[in-house]
Parts: sequence; C-alpha cells; structure tokens
Amino acid sequence: MSAVAVCFVCQWCAQIGAERAGRDRLQLPGGFVMVPVPCAGAVPVDVVLRAFADGAEGVAVLGCHLGGCHHNQGNRGASVRLALLGATLATLGVHPHRLLVSFGSAHEGHQFASVVEGFMTRLGALSQGADLALLRGRLEGAALAPGCDLPPREPEAGAPSPLPADILEEARRLLASGEVGHVLGLAVTDGGVLPEVFSTPQELERAVAASKYPLAKTFWRFMGGMPQGTSAALVCRPCDARAVREQTKMAQYEGQTVRCLTLGCSEEDAHKCGCANPGVDAPSYVALPDPLADLDPAGRIAFWRDSFQRCIKCYGCRNVCPVCICPSCRLEDETFVPPGILPPPPLPWHACRALHVADRCVGCGACQDACPSGLPLLALHGSLSGHLHRESAYIAGMGMTSPIAAAMAAQGPCGGPPPAWGEPGGARGADREVRHG
Ligand code: FES
Repeated sequence: MSAVAVCFVCQWCAQIGAERAGRDRLQLPGGFVMVPVPCAGAVPVDVVLRAFADGAEGVAVLGCHLGGCHHNQGNRGASVRLALLGATLATLGVHPHRLLVSFGSAHEGHQFASVVEGFMTRLGALSQGADLALLRGRLEGAALAPGCDLPPREPEAGAPSPLPADILEEARRLLASGEVGHVLGLAVTDGGVLPEVFSTPQELERAVAASKYPLAKTFWRFMGGMPQGTSAALVCRPCDARAVREQTKMAQYEGQTVRCLTLGCSEEDAHKCGCANPGVDAPSYVALPDPLADLDPAGRIAFWRDSFQRCIKCYGCRNVCPVCICPSCRLEDETFVPPGILPPPPLPWHACRALHVADRCVGCGACQDACPSGLPLLALHGSLSGHLHRESAYIAGMGMTSPIAAAMAAQGPCGGPPPAWGEPGGARGADREVRHG
C-alpha cells in the first residue's frame, strides 16, 4: 500500500505545478492529499503536527522560491518555523524523510511531479515505524519509568536565606528614592515562602531569597494589574531576569518601568537546577550537554514514548511558563483542539508548545519543575534553543532583539503579537498570586 501523505501547496506555485502536471498527463504517485494554501507561510507548525497525529505518514510544504513569495516574506517565516519543526522531530526520533519543505521547486508540472514522486518514494521505503506510533499517540509498550538517565533536578525550593546585603540596599534605595513604587520578591509567611510586594524600605526587612522559586510570571501578572506609569523592581534569579527581558520584547510593560535585581545563583543552586552557567547573561541551557545526544532515533522514540505516556494534559507547564503569555493559546485553539474531539496526543501537544516558545524559552525549567508527572521537558526545549543558537547565534533572554521574532509571530494566533498594555482579551492580571505587604 502506498504511503499516505499531506502536501500543503502554495496556490501561486506548487498548485499551478500540480495543475500543469495533470494537464500534461504526467504520472503521479498515489497516496497523497493536496491541500492548497494561499502561501507556505499560512501553514502553522501545529497544523503539520495535527496532520501527523491524524494519520499522515508524511507532510510536505511546497512554496514559492525564497524571494518570490506573493506575500513578501511568508515563505521565509515558514522556512524558519519548519526548520525548527524538523529539529523538534529529530529530537523526538522521527525520521527526517517524513517532513519535506521545498521552496520554488514545484512550480512547473514536471518539477512538481518529480518532487512529489521523490517524496512518496522515500516515504514508501519507510516502514510503519515506531516514530509514527509516537506521532499518533499510541504508546503501547511504554515503560512506567523513564528509559533514560537525565541529570536530576530537585523540585523543592531551597531553604530561605536573607537577601544579600547589596541587593537589599539597592532595593531599599529604589523604594526610598521613589525610583520604583514596588519591589516584588519573596517573604516567609506562615512558615512558607510566598511572593510578596514590598512598598516601603521597612517592609523589605521580611524579604528573603530562595532558590528555585520562579517569579517572572508572577511579576508579569502583578504588573498586568497595575496602571500605566507604575514602576517596579523584581528580586529574582538570573533566568527570571532573562524571562522579563523576553516579556519586555513582547511589549508587556509598555508605559511601565521595570527593573530586575538579580540574585546570583550559588553553585549548589545551579547544580540543583541542572544549570551549567547561571549568570544573567549566561545561556545556561545552550551550555548544557544534550542529555539525549547518545541516543539513536530508536532510543529517542523509546525515551519520549515512556515520558509522554505520563502526561495528563494538566496545562501546568504552560501556566507556569514565564513566556507563555499569549492572549489566546494555540493549545486551546479550535484548529488544534477542535470542539468535541479529544486533544492531540502528547507528542504534537508538547511539540506545539515547544515550537511556540522556541525563540523565547530562557531555560528556567519552571515547566519541568511544575509537571506533576515529571516529564523531562527541558530536554525538548533545550534542543530547540540549541538549534537556534547553532543556526543563528540567537539566545533567548540575552539582548532585546530577536532576528526570528517576525517569523515566529506569523505562525498563528498564539504566536501573534500579544495585546498591548490594557487591551482586552489578555490574561494579564488574572489569577494574581501576589499579596501586598
Ligand atoms: Fe507562495 Fe508565499 S505566496 S510561498
């Protein structure tokens, strides 16, 4: 039986090639479904993942040659996103022949026929592999324990300690001088460590430091509920400071002033986080050795199969992520999770989230720490961060520009620009976790 594939064809290029191939009566293989799209840039990565989950053995995206897109840069954005998708699939152990991305090679009838013929031949040579089962969420045979030794991360926050004197002094100075109206940090309350907003220098007596307590999302929520003109400082870990940079790049603090007072992480704290290099301007995650580097595709598939079977779709990873702040989440979008149909299997689900935050993930590991099922999510996010670093020297959270932001922003509602300050429809200000001291 021939393979079943979905070919997304740009109406300005590959679709014309297909029509010419038919007109010229060229031989075409069976087993592929053509989906015309207005531009290759109109194919979101999650739709490709959904096609795999729904039974496709391969997916092709055929667009105009680079520089010749009828929507200016649509295909360039697509090439960035689909390259990231290819890297994601490679991390998961999916055979590279299952995804074809081709620009400008199918606009003539004979070219279209030869591209599709080659794609279907390569697909046909692949067996109904374990990677397909993983893509479709069939996890039979999965072990109950992970099949790979990842460096352990300690989920518990360390014992609270007094704020370092220089940070305390700077926080006091900022409040006393009126440079900021609030300082968000941690305090011991009723025997436990909780976020707290300090508004006077005296209140800072109660401030403490505690490792592994992520604060960037709490800070974002706090500022979302404050009026324009608010100035505030966050006492936080270096990875939180990088996340605040990413939030700032997403225009989340327009009209507000934000400062980060960054606590250095001790070597012990860094070890607990599995962090190789915990400075503010140190990309710890790309410095980490790839925990899956020694695994072949079959080993990767087994590793992720065993891991994904524990996912309960609690949305904890998304909710805690400091850069998952889109007003409408693709993981709840009807094109990805149609009403009346179960959510996609764990692989497309987690791959979709990883792809959407690929250029903003600062490697804080909050998702992995929050996961009640212990999914090794940093291995997935870290592989994409590493890919971006290798391809474009880009590191999220370092600097205020992103060479691929525009490409990522074109990928659909979730990847679109978040609402400006105060616009309706955003989640900002909801579920506030902070208390005013
Ligand atoms: Fe063909 Fe954009 S119009 S790829």
